[in-house]
Amino acid sequence: MVYYVNLFYRYFIPLVLGCMALFILTDILHRLNERKKLRKDQADAGEAQPSARQYPRFELGRRIEHLVLISSFTTLALTGLPQKYSQAGISQVLVRMFGGIAMTRQIHHLAAAIFILEAVYHLVVLGYKLVVLRLEASMLPSTRDGMDALRELAFNLGLRGRMPRMGRYNFKEKMEYWALVFGLLVMAFTGLMLWNPVLTIKILPAQFIPAAQAAHGAEAVLAVLAIILWHFYSVHLRGWNASMFTGKLSLARMKAEHAEELDQIEKGMLPRPIPPVTYRRRMRLFVPAVVAFTFLLGFGLYKYTAFEPTPLANSPVLEPAIQVASPTVDPTAPHPSATLDLAGQVVLPQTATPGITRTDTSTVVATTSPTPAPVLTWTEGGIQQLFSDNCGECHGNSGGLSLSSYADIMEGGRDGPVIIPGNPDDSRLVKIQSSGNHPVLLSAGDLAKVIAWIKAGALEK
Ligand code: HEC
Repeated sequence: MVYYVNLFYRYFIPLVLGCMALFILTDILHRLNERKKLRKDQADAGEAQPSARQYPRFELGRRIEHLVLISSFTTLALTGLPQKYSQAGISQVLVRMFGGIAMTRQIHHLAAAIFILEAVYHLVVLGYKLVVLRLEASMLPSTRDGMDALRELAFNLGLRGRMPRMGRYNFKEKMEYWALVFGLLVMAFTGLMLWNPVLTIKILPAQFIPAAQAAHGAEAVLAVLAIILWHFYSVHLRGWNASMFTGKLSLARMKAEHAEELDQIEKGMLPRPIPPVTYRRRMRLFVPAVVAFTFLLGFGLYKYTAFEPTPLANSPVLEPAIQVASPTVDPTAPHPSATLDLAGQVVLPQTATPGITRTDTSTVVATTSPTPAPVLTWTEGGIQQLFSDNCGECHGNSGGLSLSSYADIMEGGRDGPVIIPGNPDDSRLVKIQSSGNHPVLLSAGDLAKVIAWIKAGALEK
């Protein structure tokens, strides 16, 4: 699954960015060609005079939403990307600046909550406009937008005499809006899966976790690059467009980018006011629906993110009945209470008891510890191999606990060390692995081996 997610993004990211870059390139070429003429046009259109007429573009509410988006998006990128590229020097500087990895994660979660709340607020406003005011859904994409894109491309390439006349939201703006919606959905769903992985794998197969991690990281890269390329170019480099801050747009830009809307404004085609009776009737339905919707959503999200904040650390206590082997018990597999002989071979006990308890774990160790050499180490005896075979898929170098090198495993995870040399009973890795409550469990034989290794001091060589 991780493979397919990565495969998808390997082509999707260059495709999206490549199309954007090509389009921008034609635009730049065209503008370089026509620079002189354009200047004259702009002067004619009145952009040269600062007193030129301004048209209302964004209400205060939309502008505030935009500010909230800027700040939460930037925060998410600054706290998220260092977790994806944890090896990079700049990442380490950033994480230190935010006060460590735990704090960075917390800030990331806070910004994510704000981002999601903003999306919910946006939905409510949208609902109000469509259901109560019955305004036109001006952001919906249509085939005309596709045609407009082709027309503008043709214009840029000199194949067409004039720019297409576009409405309130032109195809570039719609594209960015829907890209944001798509990105938000991907990021919110995968992000929430990673926020509470333990709850997630109760609902979904465990392989969704590494897949979600891959998608979350790749989509983040796409989102940041797309914003830098498309948004910054269209509204900042191509000519500073401050309408999202001032709320107004100049006549010249209205002509160039929203000619059709300008016509409608000039003709006085404003939406007709709604009779108060109708308005009240619609509001009577709308308000309770919104309250119920936000309450349910908010409650659900709160429960999901706050419930069992450190579930893995608690689980050995919560679930004292321990099953070591993976859920599908293979009768030919080593028995749960197997012990280890000198050569690291698994030895079945004389009396077969299904499942062992945690105290049993120490007896397993007790039977192995008196044996002298050869000592199990990270590199000798297959400990490293065993971790990379069973755990590498999720505990690689993509953030969180890494089990890929000796230094990594000894450093531990988010909540500190997972191995305490000489003390397997208190080593979190052993507790978690013997609790049965983890996406992937070591086989009994491997677990016994790990326990023996820790008991012997968890040496590297
Ligand atoms: C399918 C994905 C997956 C696999 C495979 C996997 N884990 Fe995990 N593991 C998780 C998730 C998710 C967490 C919780 C998030 C975190 O702490 O990084 C976790 C957490 C842990 C923790 C606690 C880390 C901490 O800092 O709290 C330990 C210890 C651990 N795993 C050990 C293992 C071992 C040992 C294996 C191999 C047998 C393994 N895991 C295989 C997904 C996986």
